[in-house]
Amino acid sequence: MAHDPNQTPDPLAEIEAALVDLGRAFDAAHDDNDLRQVTARYLGKEGTVTALTRRIAELPGPARKPFGQKLNEAKAAVERARGEAELRLKTEARARDLGQPAVDITLPGRRPARGRVHPIMRVLHEVIDVFAGLGFDVAEGPEVDLAVNNFDRLGFPPDHPAMDMHDSFFLPSGDPGQKVLLRTHTSTVQVREMLSHPPPIQVICPGAVFRRDDDVTHSPMFFQLEGLLVDERVTLAELRGVLDAFLVRLFGSSIRTRFRASYFPFVEPGAELDVSCLICGGHDAGCRVCKGTGWLEVLGCGMVHPVVFEQVGYDPERYTGFAFGMGIDRLAMLRYGVTDIRYLYDNDPRFLASL
Ligand code: DAH
Repeated sequence: MAHDPNQTPDPLAEIEAALVDLGRAFDAAHDDNDLRQVTARYLGKEGTVTALTRRIAELPGPARKPFGQKLNEAKAAVERARGEAELRLKTEARARDLGQPAVDITLPGRRPARGRVHPIMRVLHEVIDVFAGLGFDVAEGPEVDLAVNNFDRLGFPPDHPAMDMHDSFFLPSGDPGQKVLLRTHTSTVQVREMLSHPPPIQVICPGAVFRRDDDVTHSPMFFQLEGLLVDERVTLAELRGVLDAFLVRLFGSSIRTRFRASYFPFVEPGAELDVSCLICGGHDAGCRVCKGTGWLEVLGCGMVHPVVFEQVGYDPERYTGFAFGMGIDRLAMLRYGVTDIRYLYDNDPRFLASL
């Protein structure tokens, strides 16, 4: 507002009047932004003190000096009030911080949800560890293989039902004489290992296998682990010893095992190995998991058939060996009490986290 020259001004009193609210204005400030605004109200381009400064030219000569001094005092007063308010805000902020619950810096950090190893892979790694401890190397083969490695070289007769289109996923092959398929078992890797290495051999072969099957206990893709040991004078007793040692390490020393005669084209004699039920211990009448038998079937095995040795160029008169094959999914189901194999492949995070 323009100054009215008709009023008899007391310029010094005007300065005092401009500063009346100074203390209260700064007391009301809550943060740095408030402080800046209040300061600007006095000292900014449009501020009250700044406006009064412009009045100096209107004053008679002798009045100018005391007016100027008073203005300087006013500016200093504003700065002082600002400094005090700043200190007050800092003190208040520190008191607030100190009033907070103490931070315990020894507490472990909060971890975000993490992925975990799939139950099938957990069991597979455990099984591999046990066999590695028993001196087996790990060998792998391709999931897509020649039908001769999957069947013929393992002694399957040409009309064996497992070779039926309904069990296997055959793939188009460039050569009509060479049938190609997704391997139906990891026994293919025994053939490949023997074709590429002279005896002695002591390997396990883990991997995915594929069959046209899909129900509560069968998945079209599942995991197997094959074992093969070939040397001079290997006996059935050693097969039994290795498998018993393996099962005791996997399931604990309270289990019992039994051999049951069985047939697989690539072993002679062939057997299935059962373990006493992990749920009921195989006592009394058994339970639902072992279907009242007290036993669980865990793997197939036997002494390598001389026909297989001939197929891979090993001398069947000189070498003997044993082989075994197990379903890793089945072991995982037993270990974690999973009743439907498909749960293992649905990958519902709630299911996986519950195991
Ligand atoms: N390959 C067989 C299967 O898929 C499992 C098996 C049985 C493997 C006996 C072996 C064996 O090495 O000796 O059912």
